[in-house]
Amino acid sequence: MPCEAFLAEKAAKTEAALERHFAEWVGAPAELLDAMRYSLFAKAKRLRPALALGAADIVLGDDTPALPAACALEMIHTYSLIHDDLPAMDNDDLRRGRPTAHKAFGEATAILAGDTLLTMAFDIAAIPGNCAVIHELARASGPLGMAGGQFLDLEAEGKRIDLAALRRIHALKTGALIRAAVRVGALLAGARPEALDALSRYGEWLGLAFQIADDILDETGDAAAMGKPSGSDVLNQKATYPSILGMDRARAFAEEAAVEAQRALSGFGPEADVFRQLADYVIHRDR
Ligand code: IPE
Ligand code: IPE
Ligand code: MG
Ligand code: MG
Ligand code: MG
Repeated sequence: MPCEAFLAEKAAKTEAALERHFAEWVGAPAELLDAMRYSLFAKAKRLRPALALGAADIVLGDDTPALPAACALEMIHTYSLIHDDLPAMDNDDLRRGRPTAHKAFGEATAILAGDTLLTMAFDIAAIPGNCAVIHELARASGPLGMAGGQFLDLEAEGKRIDLAALRRIHALKTGALIRAAVRVGALLAGARPEALDALSRYGEWLGLAFQIADDILDETGDAAAMGKPSGSDVLNQKATYPSILGMDRARAFAEEAAVEAQRALSGFGPEADVFRQLADYVIHRDR
């Protein structure tokens, strides 16, 4: 299956499941739910749920067991975007083709929408027997994961940092959740240790390739296509791959990371082809 069709299929499944969860929260403050829905159901790639569901396909030939974790991943990711855009962080006005949550609902509601998405992600993922998945999601989002990486990203603004420091920021702020997406899908499908290790390595390299491409798109991409501003990183004096390596070497490194991701899949057969294609997709995408 071509990778765009794969992403579309997994997105539809995830969005339908997310809708079912929202239906359980009737009676909650309507504007809070509206703000959560506004950011969550806007046009997005749904890469992390697709990775969780796709890993379960590879391991088990069935993605059903990974669906709650797929929902949780997209909710955690969306919370991270809402907070990433806040004035105290990247101060951006456009996200997923819409005014950012704080522009549409005000800062307080945006912060609470993020908090609620994060919290309820764990409610959804907390299925009996899923303890390992909860640990994966928490660690990937915590101080040695996304939140820690976001802290380092902000701390590095306006500074010259070396490549090792930049790689650490990317591994934490973006890589950890992408790696976790692949891992939770594999875990829920009952992956054996060798398969889990190989898929983890895939997720790690894919996450790096993905964030390098994100940095490149911030300089070269079209805001309308991306649904978010271009030029935000230069404005915020962010440490990025293009700013540290230059554009040509940044592109070459993204290619290398994608090849490494594909190399991690060498033990798998055609069932992993769509993940191989996904590695190309993440570095050649325009949004
Ligand atoms: C953007 O993530 C933030 C990063 C971690 C680079 P995505 O590029 O996956 O954004 P959506 O989910 O498609 O909006
Ligand atoms: C943010 O990286 C990664 C997150 C954890 C949200 P960026 O700040 O580069 O993401 P965009 O470019 O705003 O989507
Ligand atoms: Mg940021
Ligand atoms: Mg940002
Ligand atoms: Mg960016």
